[in-house]
Amino acid sequence: MNAPALHRAAGERAIARCDALGVAPYSDADSGLYRAWLTPAHRAAQAAVAEWMGQAGMATRLDAASNLIGRYEGEHRDAPALLIGSHLDSVRDAGRYDGPLGIMLGIECVAALHARGERMPFAIEVIAFGDEEGSRFPASMFTSRAVAGTLAPGALDGVVDAAGVSVAQALAGWGLEAAQFHQAARRPDEVIGYLEAHIEQGPVLEAEGLALGVVTGIAAQLRFEVSVRGRAGHAGTSPMPLRADALTAAAECVLAVEAVAREAASDLVATVGRMQVLPGATNVIPGRVSFSLDVRAGDNARRDAGAAQILHRFEAIAAARGVQVEAVQVQDLAASPCDTHLVELLAQAVETQDIAPRRLVSGAGHDAMVMRALCPTAMLFVRCDGGISHNPAERASAADAGLAVAAMLDFIERLGAIRGN
Ligand code: GLV
Ligand code: MN
Ligand code: MN
Repeated sequence: MNAPALHRAAGERAIARCDALGVAPYSDADSGLYRAWLTPAHRAAQAAVAEWMGQAGMATRLDAASNLIGRYEGEHRDAPALLIGSHLDSVRDAGRYDGPLGIMLGIECVAALHARGERMPFAIEVIAFGDEEGSRFPASMFTSRAVAGTLAPGALDGVVDAAGVSVAQALAGWGLEAAQFHQAARRPDEVIGYLEAHIEQGPVLEAEGLALGVVTGIAAQLRFEVSVRGRAGHAGTSPMPLRADALTAAAECVLAVEAVAREAASDLVATVGRMQVLPGATNVIPGRVSFSLDVRAGDNARRDAGAAQILHRFEAIAAARGVQVEAVQVQDLAASPCDTHLVELLAQAVETQDIAPRRLVSGAGHDAMVMRALCPTAMLFVRCDGGISHNPAERASAADAGLAVAAMLDFIERLGAIRGN
């Protein structure tokens, strides 16, 4: 087979593997895909991916933070590694490519090098991270933050999922210890860079007729857990003016979130994606509501100003309605520019596939934003249908995945030429 046919076959296999991981036992849901960190579905997916890594010529291991790592040695043993990764966890009712595609494309790059018996001046490690989405616990990217060495001491303490299971208990179920989690940290001298391929999750590449794009940076994120305390009461006997309804107050807060982001008329975006109403009965005025708040912008200052404005509006709503609103920040991920040198190299690799190297900023979060603290990062975007993501209708084509493999291999070769000199 010639190179384009090989890359095309690699793209087909990468897509087919993502599809295979889209159903039970690789999903925790009976129908559709939901794969959360440290669940049986995650475990099953890791086993399948470890097997594919082995077939591609990699030695596999699980690190102290539950990340699956496949290593393909370089020309010399113990050479520092180029890390290629993405995440295995998903949102609820997910698409099949957000996360897994980046891992499968990394495996295909190594498989191609292995098939032609080629070693680079550096090792290649493909990493399958566990919790980029954070759909089980309130915060995300514990696993990549552990690898990057930026996880604060005690960061896992008291973190529980909706069922009250702590991170420490979930890790223990996998034979891992929370006390050792930080040992997943890599030394900067062990690593030369981090490359992540990911579906774009937006419509730009498709609109411009481009299969691939080059990410220049990732937007800043804040996450909060907000709780509203009112007064539960009888739905039939409590006159409207005498109520302290936590849900109507929360509803006003949600509209305030939307209004602040709209009024900013910038790249500020703010979302309430989850809400719990207690006690949750038809004939009881809600006494307590908790909801998530996600605030993002291309730079930290715009994000922080937007969040401050939202919290200010919450205070006013609480005062006007006689309820208490408390917002606890559970995550702060700074805006994360990619490395200019690696961006340039990736742009050249994309251009070599006869694709204009469109540069774009990622509004979605990625493990790459965390890995920047450890090493230079680069991200390749792959076009997805209609820009649809976080949705079962998410699609990427085998042809585009094949072009991604070709561009990533070209990037690896370019890096090899530089490092070999
Ligand atoms: C992950 O997809 C995120 O951007 O939150
Ligand atoms: Mn993702
Ligand atoms: Mn996602």
